[in-house]
Amino acid sequence: MLRDVKIGPTVIVIFGASGDLTRRKIIPAIYNLFIDGWLPETFSIVGVARTASTDEAFCHQLREGVDTFSRRGKAKEEEWSKFASAIKYMAADYNDRQTYLSLLEDLDAGWRQSANKIFYLATPPTLFTVIVEQLGQLKAFRGEKNYRIVIEKPFGKDLESARALNQSLTEVFDEAQIYRIDHYLGKETVQNILAFRFANAMWEPIWNRSYIDHVQITVAEKVGVGRRGGYYEGAGALRDMVQNHLLQVMCLVAMEPPTSFQADEIRNKRVDVLSAIRPIEKDEVEKFAVRGQYDRGVVDDQPVPAYREEENVAEDSGKETFVAMKLYIDNWRWQGVPFYLRTGKHLPGRVSEISLQFRPVPHHPFSDSVTPANRLAIQIEPKEGIMLRTQAKEPGLGMKIKPVEMHYTYQEVFKSASPEAYETLLLDVVRGDPSLFMRNDQVEMAWSVLGSVLEIWENSIPVDFPNYAPGEWGPKGAEDLITRDGRSWLVPACLESNRKDGICP
Ligand SMILES: NC(=O)c1ccc[n+]([C@@H]2O[C@H](COP(=O)([O-])OP(=O)(O)OC[C@H]3O[C@@H](n4cnc5c(N)ncnc54)[C@H](OP(=O)(O)O)[C@@H]3O)[C@@H](O)[C@H]2O)c1
Repeated sequence: MLRDVKIGPTVIVIFGASGDLTRRKIIPAIYNLFIDGWLPETFSIVGVARTASTDEAFCHQLREGVDTFSRRGKAKEEEWSKFASAIKYMAADYNDRQTYLSLLEDLDAGWRQSANKIFYLATPPTLFTVIVEQLGQLKAFRGEKNYRIVIEKPFGKDLESARALNQSLTEVFDEAQIYRIDHYLGKETVQNILAFRFANAMWEPIWNRSYIDHVQITVAEKVGVGRRGGYYEGAGALRDMVQNHLLQVMCLVAMEPPTSFQADEIRNKRVDVLSAIRPIEKDEVEKFAVRGQYDRGVVDDQPVPAYREEENVAEDSGKETFVAMKLYIDNWRWQGVPFYLRTGKHLPGRVSEISLQFRPVPHHPFSDSVTPANRLAIQIEPKEGIMLRTQAKEPGLGMKIKPVEMHYTYQEVFKSASPEAYETLLLDVVRGDPSLFMRNDQVEMAWSVLGSVLEIWENSIPVDFPNYAPGEWGPKGAEDLITRDGRSWLVPACLESNRKDGICP
């Protein structure tokens, strides 16, 4: 990873700049990089969108976003004024060639000619190809390392559409210029999986099928779809969460040790995992994947609507708001070890956690006690940390075994707030380091892993929807998926009741 690269002048062009993502994530992240001195002295931001506006009105809207969403809270007047002086707004029609002519002309004026130029596509995905093709008709970008393009998720809606989008992109840009965002990869705790595994000698010998019984990855949200019903109707939990975040986290847990931290080395190792995932045959989908949709219910004493009653959602919608899956990785390290994945909306809490459940000891010498197996929990959010459950002798006469936990949280140990994932990722784009971004083969492989499930689910409307109440861990089928194997879902460490050790609220 390129941590010490000196950054030259940089201009960031944001398409879709009037939108939610720009206000909530992109600008607060760039602003924090600016305050922390990571941006070069000479930089500028050009916001592009259809809405008629002025530089002043646009900046005002962005400041509100920073005041509301920045991890640092409200912007300070002097810092904001300096930052805002580098921001311009351009009202534009994405289908008009003139938009891109003016933009490129502007980028080449003054100091910008030699600058890094980053095109950030924060528009609805339907516009990605339009913008790329329009840019490509005006200029040869391939091989021009100072031009980079950032693509937001969703990257396609299946293998075919992802391939088509990759094709459009690679006709205009080299793969090395393309940054496909999966913001999960920018999270500190997700990056820490690599440090934890490969900077400590003790894990590698036991990080395999001989010692690990199974792995669980849970990414749960407490909220429903809220105002994003329109988007969700086209996506669903499988596309929105599993295809990207959960599979990428799984890759980091399962990958082989890299020989270096060069972008392509890390990405090759992640692709190796995806390509070793055992395909799910169409007639086996029911055995390996379960979908759910939330009903109306009560959350924190407040009534909440069913998914089918949400804004912009069809009243007979068959879209899943919950997915549980079982995957196997067919290689030496993981043969026979199931990876259970689950994600959903209106689950009991907001939590992302990876649990590695170790095998039990081969022999129990402590005759009076059952010895539960060790468990390692990597906590991604809301509290970032690591928890290792081991066994200890309970003080007293006789030999009584009791589970105890060793844990650390980032907050306790490092005492400083972690940067937002978007800060990490945007700085990497500015530096030209694509390690934490998805390469074309990774994205396509991830779609391919889910191909049969997508197809079967798309073509069969579930008859039991809605099938779970808000606050439950999904439908009964999710329970059956794992109990059939003689296992059970682990309650994420931070949601275990009566927890008093402060790991998680
Ligand atoms: N919001 C998030 O948290 C989030 C998270 C991950 C990924 N993403 C992805 O990031 C991108 C932007 O998300 P967003 O939430 O900011 O989207 P958004 O607010 O719905 O849209 C962004 C901007 O695009 C323009 N737009 C909307 N519909 C359009 C249309 N049919 N034709 C042309 N322009 C249109 C609008 O600006 P004008 O009308 O002014 O042109 C809007 O302000 C999307 O691809 C989304 O999937 C978003």
